[in-house]
Amino acid sequence: MPEKIKSQLKGRLKAALYLHSLSTAEFAAKLARKHHLNEEQAYLAGLLHDNAKHLTLEQMQQCAMGTGFEFDAIELSTPALLHAPLGAILASAEFGISTESILQAIRNHTTGHPQMSHLDMVVFLADTLEPMREFSGIEKLRQMAYQDLEHCLLLVINHTLVFLTKRRKVVHPRTNALHQTLISKQRKAI
Ligand SMILES: [Fe+2]
Ligand SMILES: [Fe+2]
Repeated sequence: MPEKIKSQLKGRLKAALYLHSLSTAEFAAKLARKHHLNEEQAYLAGLLHDNAKHLTLEQMQQCAMGTGFEFDAIELSTPALLHAPLGAILASAEFGISTESILQAIRNHTTGHPQMSHLDMVVFLADTLEPMREFSGIEKLRQMAYQDLEHCLLLVINHTLVFLTKRRKVVHPRTNALHQTLISKQRKAI
């Protein structure tokens, strides 16, 4: 099944995005193995997480309107966010994925969600930390992702919030809610 999905995906994504998808899938599977989660589901969610990212905002909006699903105003105006819920819909409609945990991990890979599953976290972190990515401190975060998913996610979300605030970008309410959830969990653990 992954081979068929790979050739379908390769046909629609640009080379760099296709390679990022493969790299995310492989890293997600490794993290899943380390954390005793379903490796195949992590691989498939990683492989398909950006399947709608090649579309323009207008194409994404048109596609989203035709699905019957509801999207909020922030998602609908931001391709960097909209490709995630739309990607989950297309993963089901065009790639034949019916496993809800895979679709949920795809749906939650940009904003995150206050009730993220560990599989969602694995895919979110694999997307941010896969081996083709490069930024200061990434190696430490990769090690942390193997040790403690929730703590690693908190560090990544902190980084994202600083990045978005500096650029005066809107932070999606789900990302803020996730941040609060992770902070309270860490407090309880101390
Ligand atoms: Fe993405
Ligand atoms: Fe991605």
